[in-house]
Amino acid sequence: MSTENPKLEERRARVEALLRGIEKERRIGVIGSMNADYTIDVPHLPAPGETVRGGEVRLLPGGKSSNQAACAALLGASVSMFGLVGKDDNGSFLLERLGRAGVDVTGVARAGRPTGTTLIAVDAAGENAIAYAPGANDLLDAAFVRAAEELLDCDVVGLCLETPLNSVRVAAARCHEAGAQVLLNYSPCSEPPSRDLAQSVDVLLVNEHELAQLTGLPEGGPWAEAQDALLDMGFSEALVTTGPRGSMVLGEDCARRVESFEVRACDTTGCGDAFMGAVLAGLASGYSLREAAELGSCVSAFAALGHGAQASYGTADQVVDALRQGLLG
Ligand code: RIB
Repeated sequence: MSTENPKLEERRARVEALLRGIEKERRIGVIGSMNADYTIDVPHLPAPGETVRGGEVRLLPGGKSSNQAACAALLGASVSMFGLVGKDDNGSFLLERLGRAGVDVTGVARAGRPTGTTLIAVDAAGENAIAYAPGANDLLDAAFVRAAEELLDCDVVGLCLETPLNSVRVAAARCHEAGAQVLLNYSPCSEPPSRDLAQSVDVLLVNEHELAQLTGLPEGGPWAEAQDALLDMGFSEALVTTGPRGSMVLGEDCARRVESFEVRACDTTGCGDAFMGAVLAGLASGYSLREAAELGSCVSAFAALGHGAQASYGTADQVVDALRQGLLG
């Protein structure tokens, strides 16, 4: 579909070329969480003490790390997942779905604890609230990381904070030392990172709320201050997602905005993970951080069109089709 907006047409063509250029040559490793998401659509998110009647409960594949791995693989990148699920039906379900997305799951172990589980409510505007029971994800400790030798063969590595922080620190240090490009999604945001963790990370990914929590600065404050605060912590580059205002690429001497793609959102669950998955795929394909962020904007907008996290992600062809149909503007 052509528009009368040449700038938008130019942008769509640029992103289409990025989608078409995703390569399999360099391997992505994602180590972290895998969850079974029990999701209910509700007219509004329940307030404390409130019960809200919703639609049918859906069981969908999720977990931030698993979502990021699935997104990158669907786009055409070569991806290995490292983590733990239970010996239960939900564990088999997650492995089957991730395998179907094209992710190598030989690095996922079955543990004697239930598979990680979430309860998710999604409101009429597509916003969500999530409660998380880590289950088997909590067994991802430093010993598991050290035993995952294939992780050290990966060129780009994705981490998040749904597994114990010490294992994230060990994984970041080992992969950084082995020469991989390490991306850390500081989500869900908890305690501030140690300096050694920050220095093992090549690119930090956060949303603007997490950035405020991390730096102690007010949300929407000047980017230069946030940039200085991150540099002081030991991070060198960061991508900050700012919802409908797109994202910011923060480096030692630059702060650049990347616009979002407008979309009629059905469910925003896992859109941040789609952004990270696309950035992993982009960096593994040799793109600049800015190009990877532009790819992330488009792919995360596509993810808002469908229900669930992984269940709403598309292949490069499907995202290109949506761009051409004008569903992402
Ligand atoms: O970011 C979305 C994800 O967060 C969901 O899939 C859920 O599992 C929680 O981990």
